[in-house]
Amino acid sequence: MRVLVTGGAGYIGSHTVLQLLRERHEVLVYDNFSNSAPESLRRVKQLANADVALREGDIRDGAALGASFAEFQPEIVVHFAGLKAVGESTEKPLDYYSQNVSGSLELLRLMTQHGCKRIVFSSSATVYGDAHYLPIDESHVLQPTNPYGRTKHFIEEIIRDWSASVPGSCAVLLRYFNPVGADASGRIGEDPMGIPNNLFPYIAQVAVGRRPHLNIFGADYDTRDGTGERDYIHVEDLARAHFAAITYAAKSHGCEAINIGTGKSATVLEMVKAFEAASGRKIPYQIVDRRAGDVARMVADAGKAEALLGWKARLTIADMAATTWNWQINNPDGY
Ligand code: NAD
Ligand code: UFG
Repeated sequence: MRVLVTGGAGYIGSHTVLQLLRERHEVLVYDNFSNSAPESLRRVKQLANADVALREGDIRDGAALGASFAEFQPEIVVHFAGLKAVGESTEKPLDYYSQNVSGSLELLRLMTQHGCKRIVFSSSATVYGDAHYLPIDESHVLQPTNPYGRTKHFIEEIIRDWSASVPGSCAVLLRYFNPVGADASGRIGEDPMGIPNNLFPYIAQVAVGRRPHLNIFGADYDTRDGTGERDYIHVEDLARAHFAAITYAAKSHGCEAINIGTGKSATVLEMVKAFEAASGRKIPYQIVDRRAGDVARMVADAGKAEALLGWKARLTIADMAATTWNWQINNPDGY
């Protein structure tokens, strides 16, 4: 299919584009490079030995995005573009509403105008807020606790209403849990700007000597060892989930929200141990205060993804650590 990928130069986008090219889809990436660089796609093309059309622009720029629709005539959109830092979203909420919500509105408007009726959207487990029960299934109440999470919740609702109004449309809202890892080649991976917000890129930068130690945000949670527990999902499995979602959307109608996780969880200390085993390096750490807004445990009920998409995570924590280390050691300063 002809797949327009917004934000396709970013971390999850680049791994997904690689997967789509390997499955012989035709891809146009639309990205403003606010949190990525064209280098990721240059490497994706090398790895896939296939071409990707690339257009630079903001999703809120209707003229530029509309020109890409007119030129490429996509049959489906995979929508990654947006801002994603929880902490930053509390400081700059309007930027988040503008880029994420207004950007998605512009995208849907152009999809309608150009007769494109299928979308796969990057949502997040953050839409659930504090878990009322575990594992979390898709019917859990949606109560996001920060502006970023609310943008994802609002976009989900907007897409649901759009889909209901467009006969024959199909929308898949993928609620990712905690994406980590890198392509096995070590050529593409997560390259955060500045100090990493997330655990795994931070550990990787400690291992490679860019940072002196990891700060563990609290060891007094009600978990196996007191540190936060999360459902980490390998980015290669996540990329496969997008391929499965596209395949599903091509032959289905309606709007479905689907968790993308493993159904298993790991603590911060377990992730540190996995990384030490993969890298052969000691990860020094300090226990510090809890981070505001963190919850003790998050784990997905991943049953719907298997039932509807025929998708299931395959890779382990050891794979996540090994591929992250391979990416980091080969690209100590990122792209
Ligand atoms: P990323 O920042 O690496 O990728 C986002 C891409 O979108 C970047 O290439 C960026 O330049 C581009 N972009 C941002 N705003 C844009 C705009 N207004 N117009 C055009 N391009 C724009 O992030 P990622 O980790 O790959 O995440 C991709 C998507 O998945 C995001 O929507 C994010 O909210 C969602 N998500 C990520 C995680 C995670 O932990 N990484 C978890 C859940 C959901
Ligand atoms: N942590 C540390 N030290 C760090 C970073 C993180 O101890 O330097 C801990 C956190 O306290 C938490 C765990 O590691 O217990 C995971 O934290 P991350 O920041 O990696 O991930 P979060 O679960 O907080 O959030 C991530 C994304 C969100 C997304 C959410 C979905 O950042 O965008 O997963 O579950 F919405």
